[in-house]
Parts: sequence; C-alpha cells; structure tokens
Amino acid sequence: MVKTGVPLVIRERSNEGSARMDGQFDELERQVMARMREIYGEAVIDHAMNPRNVGSIDDADGFVAVKSRCGELMKMWIRVKEAKIVEVAFWTDGCGATVACGSMATELIKEKDVAEALRVSGQDICAALGGLPEGNYHCAELAANAIKAVVRDYISTKREPWRKAYRRNQGFISV
Ligand code: FES
Repeated sequence: MVKTGVPLVIRERSNEGSARMDGQFDELERQVMARMREIYGEAVIDHAMNPRNVGSIDDADGFVAVKSRCGELMKMWIRVKEAKIVEVAFWTDGCGATVACGSMATELIKEKDVAEALRVSGQDICAALGGLPEGNYHCAELAANAIKAVVRDYISTKREPWRKAYRRNQGFISV
C-alpha cells in the first residue's frame, strides 16, 4: 500500500502543479495577446502568428540576405518566369512586426511582374498591414529593401549566371 500510495500522491501533486502552470501560462498568453492588440492591428497579428511564404527556394533565380540598422536579418528568394515572380519565400530572425512585414511583402509581389515588385515601398507594406507603430516602420523598410535587392539579384544573375555559384558566400547588405 505504501509503495503504491507514494507515487500516487506524487502524481496527484504533479498533476495539480501542472494544471496550475497551465493556468498561469494561459493567463500570461492572454495578457501578451491583449497587450499586442493595444499596439498592433489584426492584420499585423495575423501575419506575425501565421506568416505566409516562410522558407526557402532551391536554386532560386534571385536571393538576398539583408540586415536592418537594428541588426535584424531578412532573407528572400524568388523564382521568376517570363519576368513574373511565380514563387517567393522569406525568412527572418526579427521581431513579430518584421515577420508580419516579410509575410505581407511576399504576398504583395507574388504573381507580380519584377518591374512592379521594384515599386513596392515600405509605405505600401505598412498600409497593407493596416499601419504599424512608428517604432516598427523600419521593419517595413527592411522588407521593402529585401524586395528591391532580391529583384536586383535576379537581374544581375540573369546577366551573369556564374553569380549563382557565389551566393552561399555572399555577405549581408546593410540597409
Ligand atoms: S527590423 Fe528592427 S525591430 Fe524589426
């Protein structure tokens, strides 16, 4: 009885402890989301929590790794067919706003002509997200700069295909 009773008590306590921790975690999550909603709009939260086009593209026609002035990194890949962006992917180690901007930036240039993509600005990304706090505007600039740089990489790689072979050693472009 003692032998079976001791682990049972421990299990009960541990279940209680785990339920309490779950409750504390849920409350913390609720507070974080409430705070986020005070700062960011629904579109920003949606793109930050469910980013579109995250990943990479093998043997892409254009690739770039761009760093913002605050040190966040954004990588972007495009596949182009007859001057149209048929596939786009991004990755970032940045904040939630940067994830949202990268996600929206890729949505804005998907199925677009490369010349049209070059015209997408930080302001366009910001507007498509329903606005950003002033302190996060440079996250949209980072995504817009990634678009411009990846299209330029596509154009120069088209002219000089040997550039593809050197991409892995490519340094970051600071913006
Ligand atoms: S790029 Fe600096 S906070 Fe997002």
